[in-house]
Amino acid sequence: MPEAAVSKLLVAYSTRYGSTRVIAEAVASVLEQKGAQVDVLSVEEVESLAGYDAAVIGAPVHVGRWVREARDFAAGFAGELRAMPVAVFAAGIALARDPDKSDELATAWMKGVRNLLQPVAAAAFAGELDTSKLSVVWKILLAVIRAPRGDYRDWDKIRTWADSIAAPLGIEGASGESSGQRL
Ligand SMILES: Cc1cc2nc3c(=O)[nH]c(=O)nc-3n(C[C@H](O)[C@H](O)[C@H](O)COP(=O)(O)O)c2cc1C
Repeated sequence: MPEAAVSKLLVAYSTRYGSTRVIAEAVASVLEQKGAQVDVLSVEEVESLAGYDAAVIGAPVHVGRWVREARDFAAGFAGELRAMPVAVFAAGIALARDPDKSDELATAWMKGVRNLLQPVAAAAFAGELDTSKLSVVWKILLAVIRAPRGDYRDWDKIRTWADSIAAPLGIEGASGESSGQRL
């Protein structure tokens, strides 16, 4: 029997300043083109995972790990999420300086959630940092560690990754490329 196509996918994101939401929307748009029916919701908006066949969760990194809301979401829904294919991503400004460290930082930033959910894919992306929105304390701290300011989101990289996770998430490719095999 051929495996059924994913009928419904959740892209859940957390964001403090808005830029990770736009990454989540770009990922969702690619997966929609692959044939999935996609809801994009902030982690605070998700009340239930009933009806979803797979999920993508994305969050910014603060002080070396996913922000608390995303960690709480993963922990709170761990039972349901472990029963479906899940992909995770993180956005941090450190990758603006060291784009080659993407695999290393994807491991370091999401260690906890990777152990908890065993995701089928995990990626780290360069994000956006606008220090004008921050408190004086954070402005000083980020200046001390010389965090780069600006928008470093690499849309080609983000869309390429989204394309690559369609098959592991069980989406039957609209292009016919995906085998729908779950890893
Ligand atoms: C308080 C604070 C702490 C941060 N800590 C890190 C960090 O440890 N590593 C990193 O790469 N980026 C760090 N960043 C940068 C954010 O992860 C990055 O700007 C992200 O793209 C913001 O996403 P958002 O616009 O969705 O909130 C920090 C930003 C803030 C405001």
